Amino acid sequence: MSSQLPEDLLQAALEVRQQAYAPFSEFLVGAALRTSSGEIFRGCNVENRSYGLTNCAERVALGAAVSAGFREFDALVIATSGGVVPCGACRQVLVEFCQQLTVFLVDVDKDPQTTGFSQSVELAELLPGSPTL
Ligand code: THU
Repeated sequence: MSSQLPEDLLQAALEVRQQAYAPFSEFLVGAALRTSSGEIFRGCNVENRSYGLTNCAERVALGAAVSAGFREFDALVIATSGGVVPCGACRQVLVEFCQQLTVFLVDVDKDPQTTGFSQSVELAELLPGSPTL
């Protein structure tokens, strides 16, 4: 069963994606993370010419939320061309705070009315065997 994509989180992810600093990959990513009390924190990818110092959108959003005093989350929307899954590093960093997190993968190239526009997956499925789960 696929969870319902929250409209406000979707809009936040699409908006922040426009702020992505990605001159090296040209791959824009927007992430919107919802706290268990309903606040929304946003992040975009921030690249660096060293490549290795690049920050992914998900970790930028998580850092903003934790910096504001929030540590419990229930949903994450990631907006990209192709609707990609989060990288291994982001899965690990998210699982530090989230026992259970529904991750919505949005493909900005698809029509929002089509079934391929978004799909959801649980973080626990993306990182099985985590020590915190
Ligand atoms: N990126 C993210 O921000 N999140 C992901 O889930 C996948 C990858 C960024 C890192 C880099 O700026 C660009 O996308 C290409 O990998």
